[in-house]
Amino acid sequence: VITLFPEFVVEYLNVTRLCHTRNILSVNGKFPGPRLVAREGDRVVVKVVNQVSNNVSIHWHGIRQITTGWADGPAYVTQCPIQTNQSYTYNFTIVGQRGTLLWHAHISWLRATIYGPIIILPKHNESFPFEKPHKEIPILFGEWFNVDPEAVISQALQTGGGPNVSDAYTINGLPGPLYNCSSKDTYTLKVKPGKTYLLRLINAALNEELFFSIANHTLTVVEADARYTKPFDTDTLLIAPGQTTNVLLKTKPYFPNATFQMSARPYFTGRGTFDNSTTAGTLIYKQPLKNSSVKNLTLLKPTLPPINATSFVANFTAKFRSLASAKFPAKVPQKVDRKFFFTVGLGTSPCPKNTTCQGPSNNTKFAASVNNISFALPSSVSIMQAYYSGQANGVFKTDFPATPLNPFNYTGTPPNNTMVTNDTKLVVLKFNTSVEVVLQDTSILGAESHPLHLHGYDFFIVGQGFGNYDPNNDPAKFNLIDPVERNTVGVPAGGWIAFRFLADNPGVWFMHCHLDLHTSWGLRMAWLVLDGPGPKQKLQPPPSDLPKC
Ligand code: C2O
Repeated sequence: VITLFPEFVVEYLNVTRLCHTRNILSVNGKFPGPRLVAREGDRVVVKVVNQVSNNVSIHWHGIRQITTGWADGPAYVTQCPIQTNQSYTYNFTIVGQRGTLLWHAHISWLRATIYGPIIILPKHNESFPFEKPHKEIPILFGEWFNVDPEAVISQALQTGGGPNVSDAYTINGLPGPLYNCSSKDTYTLKVKPGKTYLLRLINAALNEELFFSIANHTLTVVEADARYTKPFDTDTLLIAPGQTTNVLLKTKPYFPNATFQMSARPYFTGRGTFDNSTTAGTLIYKQPLKNSSVKNLTLLKPTLPPINATSFVANFTAKFRSLASAKFPAKVPQKVDRKFFFTVGLGTSPCPKNTTCQGPSNNTKFAASVNNISFALPSSVSIMQAYYSGQANGVFKTDFPATPLNPFNYTGTPPNNTMVTNDTKLVVLKFNTSVEVVLQDTSILGAESHPLHLHGYDFFIVGQGFGNYDPNNDPAKFNLIDPVERNTVGVPAGGWIAFRFLADNPGVWFMHCHLDLHTSWGLRMAWLVLDGPGPKQKLQPPPSDLPKC
């Protein structure tokens, strides 16, 4: 089936929140953007037309893009951005995935307002491996800035300091009643008693992992990042930027107009300023059940964990398991061809001559890196175009280190030298290489959770722990039976995670922290997966309308 969507026109839209009106960038004049609904197996064709003065590109976050990397979207990685008055048609097939994902702009901080849900329904005549919901409701978390987010990040990059934070978190674009001048902008979910709802939770916020809870209601997790999980109940979820989680909400036999608050606020362990405000929405019951016994209630509020509740987070993330059923097996690589140990964290870079910088130490800039390399994007060509046309020289190198160049005690005393190296280096993988990656948080400038996202793949999270990863003892504890399969994973603050994937998708695949600030500071790298021998194992040729830089 070919699903042709109406064009995605990137255009200006006047939006007022918190009594501030801004002319934001939108898709089709909607904020959040339109829903992309398709079925597993569908081919999706979306023409994106740029009618604003910024360069744009759109990423279909979590879609595997098997052999269609040209449709993946990260600017300067798989394509040059779409310039003003130009268009580009994204064309890809959804293979082996069903559930919730998101699409978003993938250049600078345009994701702040350009994002929307991807809803992948099961194939015709196939059902969910859980109770059929009465209704399906997308719930997108985001951030609202009273000023232009592009100005915020460009000023931060120039001065080398930390940027201003957003002014509110939002639920489906609405900050809710806990902010000044905002109670009329409250998301309201009307439900009937005694029914099951499927909430499709999506964190599209730029820079914050968020806790989410609905007063007096337990949520059952059934899917994460478009992969089914073993169901488990929880009162509170943690959801990182780039992650999606489907939960079942069973409504109770309440009288009409009983109202409950739902709310979200950050989990944060890093240093510097952040916004610890809370966005809230309302769950309201309509229509009583006969013989309902509960009296009308006044608004109940949920209790969220403290801002820095790292042990709650570790316990919560450990609950995720693949469904691993006969129909949806967990194909965990049991043997490993290549192992990588990557440190992820913050650092510093030098201040340019004749400038004063506001970085963490005397006249430095904030930076971030993987194995001490702060990844630089090209600007005159995309990495994948350079690879495909055999013009890698001067654009990228292929010697990204498999281990840190200078090992140290990652969660103990930081090294004296916190400087990063700017470079554009890739890891090259032969087709069908079985890969294991350990991501180790460093305490340089403080321990902090980093949600790492890999393009083009889902990976199995086989282990996690606190402190320094121990290659002699930790692998014995890996779960190789039913680990959760995701595209975005939170590396624990002051700890590590290990994941495995089979490199069966040729192309150039970006991997980065999904906190946009950290991506901007260089916490990013890329994999180059070579073509396989078979005809369906090769990167397809670039489309004729691929944008030029
Ligand atoms: Cu959702 Cu490279 O990002």
